[in-house]
Amino acid sequence: MFDRRTFLKKAGVLAGAFSANSLFNHLHAAEWGNLAEDYKNISPLEMAGNEDYWSVIQKGYSASSDPIIMLNNGGVSPSPIVVQQAVEKFNLMSNQGPSYYMWRILDQGRENLRESLAKLGGCSPEEIAVNRNATEALVTVIYGLDLNRGDEVIGSHQDYPNMMMAWKQREMREGIVYKQLSFKFPIENDDEIVAAYRNAITPKTKILHLTHVVNWTGQIMPVQKIARMAHDRGIEVIIDGAHSYGLLEFNIPDLEGDYFGTSLHKYLSAPIGSGMLWIKKDKISKVWPLVCAGDPKSDDIRKFESLGTRSFPIEQGIG
Ligand SMILES: Cc1ncc(COP(=O)(O)O)c(C=O)c1O
Repeated sequence: MFDRRTFLKKAGVLAGAFSANSLFNHLHAAEWGNLAEDYKNISPLEMAGNEDYWSVIQKGYSASSDPIIMLNNGGVSPSPIVVQQAVEKFNLMSNQGPSYYMWRILDQGRENLRESLAKLGGCSPEEIAVNRNATEALVTVIYGLDLNRGDEVIGSHQDYPNMMMAWKQREMREGIVYKQLSFKFPIENDDEIVAAYRNAITPKTKILHLTHVVNWTGQIMPVQKIARMAHDRGIEVIIDGAHSYGLLEFNIPDLEGDYFGTSLHKYLSAPIGSGMLWIKKDKISKVWPLVCAGDPKSDDIRKFESLGTRSFPIEQGIG
């Protein structure tokens, strides 16, 4: 019987599950928000040396300079304490009764999360799948697209190794042709970069694989300009946004790619092991899921989230 008492009890558990949004956290977020507001007219150079500003930021983190000084926030960033606490709290809850708390309670938080991520990305929630990292997001697309023997994909030697390996595997297994450009960064003239891709295109080219911010050098690629040039020729564009998301300010659709994958544990500082895939709505149905789905040809972005049992605490900690 689903009586009033059971209902209230369940509603209480649900409300409690997502109350990482406690009053304390709201105040904490407000403190950071106000800080950004107070300092918005100060130049980045002045800001860099302003200890008043940085002391507030520092209080939010447990990262320590003892015994090692961490200089690499790009591969993976430390999460603020509030994020770590959310993950710990969700983890404690999960272990009170995994099948109940994970599948019936935490799993229900994904739709809210999708909405929040869509707001941040300036896109529709129906275009966002939540997963574990940029590699998973991008390889879902790389392995999920139908390509025939002889079809060409153009990437570069400055793309991320995981993506290069995935394309090379398709080359070995299926006989697609994976061509890689070589750039000598920094290049300040966008047209030079656009021209390099344009000149490599042949009638067999189906996909351009682009890295938005190149992790080796920090080069920002003119992805929108390249995408426009590619679309004029009927070629699709995959964008690796692992090093741009949370660092540069942009709406994902404004890049004008067809597919965009990123980790959330880099500049966004979400829990380590969190990522996101964006696919333009009208392209979702043609991408095969990497894992499995009831209807693999569905145009529902959720088909990419059948990842089996994974860390729901990490996923909810993104929120
Ligand atoms: C450009 C780029 N793409 C993809 C990745 C892979 O990220 P992850 O290991 O989170 O999947 C990285 C990692 O640093 C990267 O720099």
